[in-house]
Amino acid sequence: MLLKILQQIKYNKMSFKSVNKIQELYKSGKKIVALTSYTVPFAIAADGICDIILVGDSLEMVLYGSQDTNSLEIETIIKHAKSVKQVTQNALVVCDVPFSYYEQSKEKAFANIARIIKQTGVDGIKVEGCEEIADTISFLTKRGIAVMGHIGLMPQRIRTIGSYKKVATSKEILLEQAKLLEESGVFSIVIENCNPDDARYITQNISIPTIGIGAGNDCSGQIAVFEDICGLTPKQPPFATKYTNILEQIKQVASSYAKDVRG
Ligand code: KIV
Repeated sequence: MLLKILQQIKYNKMSFKSVNKIQELYKSGKKIVALTSYTVPFAIAADGICDIILVGDSLEMVLYGSQDTNSLEIETIIKHAKSVKQVTQNALVVCDVPFSYYEQSKEKAFANIARIIKQTGVDGIKVEGCEEIADTISFLTKRGIAVMGHIGLMPQRIRTIGSYKKVATSKEILLEQAKLLEESGVFSIVIENCNPDDARYITQNISIPTIGIGAGNDCSGQIAVFEDICGLTPKQPPFATKYTNILEQIKQVASSYAKDVRG
């Protein structure tokens, strides 16, 4: 009997990380801090400091050296997201859904995303796009999946947009897209590489947080690729601030080690 009562107390006290914390930050006017992490060391470093950790599909380029994110397979991101989630105590962990795993039909998208959630335990997922996937997003959010949107530069469309430069979409169209995503139930929207004035305009005219990357300082929060700001990637995008140069430091370690061994 006592055991049953104790179990009940433990159960009642159990709390899950949810998007509510992000909404509270947004409502209080505090900036939302997000970083990507693909691996255990980076997740440990980011957790406790960031509000959101994104296991971004950029890992295909950053860790595997691919030319774009489109060759990323679901099994690869599941493996990385599972390890990140396992060591993250505080931040909300969001996982990108790779190209080709959510565009076909809402049912297939649900099945793939349910697989990501079941096998990794992540708290939410992110998809790129707008009207063409709005039905799918509604289908997912109505079934309890926390979805983050992504507009502006959408790297999964590199084959049609041709480059990673700033998008030229008008602010009215961007706002229409953001509003549609909001109606579809996303809890926040990443705005990538677009005019800062446009990003501010969107942020002022919707009621969910915008998370900017290369979109100026007036979004509700910011996201960066952790390796970019550490100076670990051979070439950073122009909007990434390089806070240190870890690649140089690692080279120094390799060189000191080599000297010791040869000496
Ligand atoms: O994959 C990624 O790293 C991203 C961020 C750039 C937002 O989508």
